[in-house]
Amino acid sequence: MQTPATPAPRDHWSSRLGFVLAAAGSAIGLGNLWKFPYITWDNRGGAFVLVYLGCIAAVGLPIMMAEILIGRKTQTSVVGAFKQALGPRWRVVGGLGVATGWILLGYYTVVAGWTLSYLARCLRWSFTGYPSGYDPGGAFGSLVADGPVQLVLSAAFMVLTVAVVYSGIGRGIERVSRVLMPALFGILLMLLVTALSMDGAGEALGFIFRPSFSELSWDGTLEALGHSFFTLSLGMGAMLTYGSYLRRGESVVRAATWVVALDTLIALIATVTMFSVIFSVAGMTDHVGRSTAGMLFISLPELFYTAVPFGAILAPLFYLLVAFAALTSTISMLEVAVSYWIDERGVSRRRATLLSGAGIFVITALCGLSLGAWGPLSSFTVFGEKAGLFATLDHLVANWLLPLGGLAITLAAGWFLTREATRAELVDGSQPRWFRYGLWRFFIRYVSPLAVAAIILAVIFFGRDFS
Ligand code: PHE
Repeated sequence: MQTPATPAPRDHWSSRLGFVLAAAGSAIGLGNLWKFPYITWDNRGGAFVLVYLGCIAAVGLPIMMAEILIGRKTQTSVVGAFKQALGPRWRVVGGLGVATGWILLGYYTVVAGWTLSYLARCLRWSFTGYPSGYDPGGAFGSLVADGPVQLVLSAAFMVLTVAVVYSGIGRGIERVSRVLMPALFGILLMLLVTALSMDGAGEALGFIFRPSFSELSWDGTLEALGHSFFTLSLGMGAMLTYGSYLRRGESVVRAATWVVALDTLIALIATVTMFSVIFSVAGMTDHVGRSTAGMLFISLPELFYTAVPFGAILAPLFYLLVAFAALTSTISMLEVAVSYWIDERGVSRRRATLLSGAGIFVITALCGLSLGAWGPLSSFTVFGEKAGLFATLDHLVANWLLPLGGLAITLAAGWFLTREATRAELVDGSQPRWFRYGLWRFFIRYVSPLAVAAIILAVIFFGRDFS
């Protein structure tokens, strides 16, 4: 048995609600507000959304339970958890999780930084009015290619992330999540109500919820599966790490179900909101089609000021929401790296946080400069058309590292941990009545690994790209 290197008692979430808000904060992020809407758009809605919901239920939920249970059982960081639960060789899987956390936080912080810039812009426009003759696409292009601005924005976001993790689990992450998550839900609800009052709402709902299977492609199916990992923060030990601060007696099944349900709900609400606005404006659907990835930073800012009722109030609130969502995700990525230093190396939390934050910022700075500011970093290619460091790392994480980590976790929980060990964590008297252990075990042993293996094989053999 491994004993933790630090003598201090382990910090814990104060309650299940504290855990659920923090873990939902990790799950709800740019994946929900930026990526999900545009892949839904690209895949023509309906059938894609249905397949995505199926993946969340059949693959995401069982793996979410698996990660949280391994964390709670071992009460230690991802490297120690695998070592303790499964043996020293499994350290590699934990190490892969920490490395993925570094890389993911490295480039995610760049996009998170943009949200600060758009928040500031919207606050200004709400007072001065939306500038006439403004070219939103061009403005976005010059923002990302401006090296110094990229560095300042991403450094600001990294400082916010470090400040939260520095204060620890209860006083840092939980406290912040308890404020930001309800604020995020409140803002989103206001936006939803406004968007539903607009003319395009009916068409948007039809697009998202009326399945037409003739439009569904095999690629779309695999994309839905890949995204279910990213959006639920699975495959790198973020949920495992948060689970390691969960006390015994709190139901893993209930906690996991809440997190998955909230993440899915928010992705759907955000998509309904954005599409209702877009479908309300004549000609906008063609416009968005040209840069679906730019929906959040190119199409929407303008629409807030030209089409949305109370847009001048809602626009800054919306970008505040996106920044909150990104922050509660970045803190979970940093926590994976920090908890490793604390639990495995005996470094103090403060030191671990500052050092990890500074180290990861080197990757962030390079990614920020790889969008045009610095030629050599912006143009090299490793994976097909993915030019530059930012795109390369995103591809590496979404297509390789998260699915590989996810596969390792399903195999660990389904095939290497004993039935008794997993059962004791999931069926402890606090589980909900609907939960069937046998069903979970079937999914984690057969359905989830086969599905994840399908993504990896598709990437290897067909050169598919899901990022
Ligand atoms: N789930 C987050 C999002 O949707 C991203 C994330 C992935 C966060 C992995 C932590 C770990 O934006």
